[in-house]
Amino acid sequence: MIGIFDSGIGGLTVARAILEQLPDYDLVYFGDTARTPYGNKSALTVQHYARRCADFLISKGAQVIIIACNTAASAATDLLSNAYPTPIFEVITPGAAQAARLSRTGRIGVIGTRSTIASGAYERRILAFRPNAEVISQPCPLLVPLVEEGWIRRRETAMIVKKYLRPLKQRQIDTIILGCTHYPVLADLIQAKAGAHIRLVDSAMTVANQLKTHLAHTPELETTLSRDGRSSFFISDVTPQFQAIACKVLNRRLTVLPAEP
Ligand code: DGL
Repeated sequence: MIGIFDSGIGGLTVARAILEQLPDYDLVYFGDTARTPYGNKSALTVQHYARRCADFLISKGAQVIIIACNTAASAATDLLSNAYPTPIFEVITPGAAQAARLSRTGRIGVIGTRSTIASGAYERRILAFRPNAEVISQPCPLLVPLVEEGWIRRRETAMIVKKYLRPLKQRQIDTIILGCTHYPVLADLIQAKAGAHIRLVDSAMTVANQLKTHLAHTPELETTLSRDGRSSFFISDVTPQFQAIACKVLNRRLTVLPAEP
């Protein structure tokens, strides 16, 4: 089974990409809605949460774990990779690789939570792939609560996105990494405010592609994964908003179950 976790609904954009790319594989999702947002907490606290998320997914039968949260990925990838024999995938490396490859000018913008941006994880990875790149990072702390609240098409959200993107546009970036898995929900708005000439990199799609490629090359793992097309969704604080937004993001009806890892 493929296990995916995030602080809330953001990781559903990764689940959506996995369901598109690997539709038969069984999947278990955990959204830590009782503790969201992770993005303004310390790395130590996020590491502690990430361990509980991974333990929960493994208890549900996950044989592969995707850290579908950039904040948790920037704070806890090494910790989880060292703590479990389970293969761990995360959203930062494939997004950084894709942006480094796609950017024409090498001027790459990264938007993410305060904690992801402060970690410097994207900058380090991008420079490892493309040493002469110029990385311009912008924390966008208000976007996660707006997405969790379902304020996708509000004028206020559009104004905030415009303000966050201004410093990136002034530095003439040609590519923007959506460095938080909540942001693909706002992709149309971000594209509109960034301008049609700017390429958006969605780490949800890139990690799904990476997992697909990995499974194709690792039959000893691939053949052990169950493929009954079943998915289950757990969150640590069940609210009607989550249920409604989750259905919209996944474009299908789903039942969300409570969990207390
Ligand atoms: N989706 C998470 C990320 O990618 C949001 C973090 C948060 O809870 O603030 O960083």
